[in-house]
Amino acid sequence: MQATISAVSHYLPDRVMTNAELEQIVDTSDEWIQSRTGILERRVVAEGEATSHMGIKSVEQILQKSSTSAQEIDVIIVGTITPDMCFPSTAALVQDAIGATNAWAFDLNAACSGFIFSLGIGASLIESGKHKKVLVIGGDTMTSVLDYEDRATCVLFGDGAGAVLLEPTNDENGIVDSVMYTDGSGGNRLYMPAGGSRQPATLETVEQRLHYLKQDGREVYKSAVRGMADAAQALLERNNFSAKDVTLFIPHQANKRIIDASAERLGLSKEQVFINIDRVANTTAGTIPISLSEAVNEGRLLEGDLVVLAAFGAGFTWGATLVRWGKCV
Ligand code: ACO
Repeated sequence: MQATISAVSHYLPDRVMTNAELEQIVDTSDEWIQSRTGILERRVVAEGEATSHMGIKSVEQILQKSSTSAQEIDVIIVGTITPDMCFPSTAALVQDAIGATNAWAFDLNAACSGFIFSLGIGASLIESGKHKKVLVIGGDTMTSVLDYEDRATCVLFGDGAGAVLLEPTNDENGIVDSVMYTDGSGGNRLYMPAGGSRQPATLETVEQRLHYLKQDGREVYKSAVRGMADAAQALLERNNFSAKDVTLFIPHQANKRIIDASAERLGLSKEQVFINIDRVANTTAGTIPISLSEAVNEGRLLEGDLVVLAAFGAGFTWGATLVRWGKCV
């Protein structure tokens, strides 16, 4: 029994924030952002909107497209580091909003690898034979944790979410294999210091701007290139495939230069790589399901195609998934 992605969808907030707008907020330039990251614009949630809203919108489209009723859903997994609140989980909020009364639901925190890790867990639940329909959502409201006084981070991210429906299949299409890794020693390279049990929110933590994302950009950059390329390579090798067999490589969209360098290490051509960072920026756990959904909409994924997904993020966490693309709405 194998799991296959039978439906995919995504949601991006309407509001577009351009590099020109960021020029008004911090000491940066459109030229710097474009040349160092490949980003032209990003989306930002409306006031009052949070990660659950984007997840719900994605899932509603999936249910409609696949003619699935919410009561048929067995499990909902939300990969996110920006849940609506610490608890209850964003997955529980989605479950309630869509009326998936037979589903159990939980969040998974693996930062930019959140969708890859969630997809791996979701596929295992299907393979166990105990679950028939699993919704996997990846999404983040990164603008809620960005410091708009820190030009080195606030230009990189945006808001967005995507989702897939996993179902069992007996044909050869579906999720073939995945690899996942964690190296906790990289924890202090990319993190949000306060708001958890170690430094609960106080007036001081707010004044010290500790509720924002902090990162060592150069170290993350190097580790991301190595991590995504090595994970994808290991996955291809152990399944007896090489770069030429890959129809589409869908990497986490953190920085166009990271994507280009990873693709080069893997020996992939430009045509084999999906890129939307120019319009969407880094939506953390949202980048891969959003890209998958856009690739399907653009007709770039057809039945039988070999797809490699790869991500790297805080933790450090990283991993890759190999998919033989099946029937998918
Ligand atoms: N506008 C203008 N100048 C800037 C900006 C900005 N937005 N940000 C930084 N600079 C300046 C720096 O202050 C520095 O100036 P200095 O030389 O006077 O000190 C100069 O630009 C160069 O800074 P670097 O950090 O060396 O720039 P670099 O080429 O490494 O690019 C970047 C920085 C884009 C952050 C890069 O390191 C990167 O993309 N790292 C990966 C980070 C990432 O993607 N994190 C997301 C989460 S993890 C993930 O998704 C994989």
